[in-house]
Amino acid sequence: MKRIMVTGALGQIGSELIVKLREKYGSDSVLAVDYRVPDKDYAGLFELADVRDREALDRLVTKYKIDTIYHLAAILSAKGESNPQLAFETNILGLYNVLEVGLKHRIERIIVPSSIAVFGPDAPKENTPVEVALQPTTMYGITKVTGELLGNYYYHRFGLDVRGVRLPGIISSETLPGGGTTDYAVEMFYAAVKGEPYVCFVRADTVLPMMYMPDCIKALIQLAEADGSNLRYRCNYNVTAMSFSAGELADAIREFIPDFVCEFKPDHRQKIADAWPRSLDDSAAREDWGWQPDYDLKSMTKDMIDKLRKKLHPSK
Ligand code: NAD
Ligand code: SER
Repeated sequence: MKRIMVTGALGQIGSELIVKLREKYGSDSVLAVDYRVPDKDYAGLFELADVRDREALDRLVTKYKIDTIYHLAAILSAKGESNPQLAFETNILGLYNVLEVGLKHRIERIIVPSSIAVFGPDAPKENTPVEVALQPTTMYGITKVTGELLGNYYYHRFGLDVRGVRLPGIISSETLPGGGTTDYAVEMFYAAVKGEPYVCFVRADTVLPMMYMPDCIKALIQLAEADGSNLRYRCNYNVTAMSFSAGELADAIREFIPDFVCEFKPDHRQKIADAWPRSLDDSAAREDWGWQPDYDLKSMTKDMIDKLRKKLHPSK
């Protein structure tokens, strides 16, 4: 029986990853961990712990005999720029604690998402390769490069099986995103389905790589289960599904909600978006572990709107 711990389990990705992992491995096999108290009706194994507290993590790994960790607890790009110290402590020291506890208990596998934020403004913007100079200009990006290097180091130095993908912006209907630069893509859907106008905080011509949540979950689980001998990289696989501008997203939503009104008023987050790639080369993930997304802009837009209509207007 697998014994899986997911840190940051109440966040945008964790809240949906948990459901899939419980479906796949059984509810008793998956422990959700976060430092926030869940809703009263939260179902399933849950423990409060701060990833900056190594002893707390150690206790949980011992108590539940954990063999696999999906380490999702992090501070994202925009929130990280408003509190860089918190981003450093959470993302770097938190990961260091997870790796050290993993090493102590000889955990079988640790999955750590990285991000397109590892790339800086000088990286090629189109079809950005895996291997390129990484010179991010945000604290979040710096912590993500450090995370990749640490994960690779623990694999090569200690044989700890650490794996990770550089996720693009993730779009989802279940849990709101937690303070990233790509949050506008999710916020636009919510406004449109509520029948409200939206003021987008990046320019209409801002193009970023994106992915729908079912593909994100698929990528994380597929990489976790891939044959390790096929992996050319450990913690730094590029993965992507689609690239579109903020204006194209508003147009795609208008195909379903014609009277949706979207204005574009860039704020401080524009600079972060401008430093990131417009599209990624994810051929290594496709070749090494069969990565293949299921959703494009049109199919994602339809599914997001269907799901949000049910969630926000259940009686209609
Ligand atoms: P999120 O902000 O939605 O969730 C993070 C969760 O971590 C929250 O529930 C928060 O309460 C928890 N957390 C924060 N600090 C903690 C601490 N000290 N101890 C315990 N829990 C703590 O983030 P997400 O979008 O779910 O991201 C998960 C991972 O995926 C992160 O590593 C992030 O960098 C990466 N990622 C996300 C995206 C995206 O678009 N969502 C894109 C690229 C990479
Ligand atoms: N979606 C994330 C962010 O905007 C990218 O890692 O921070």
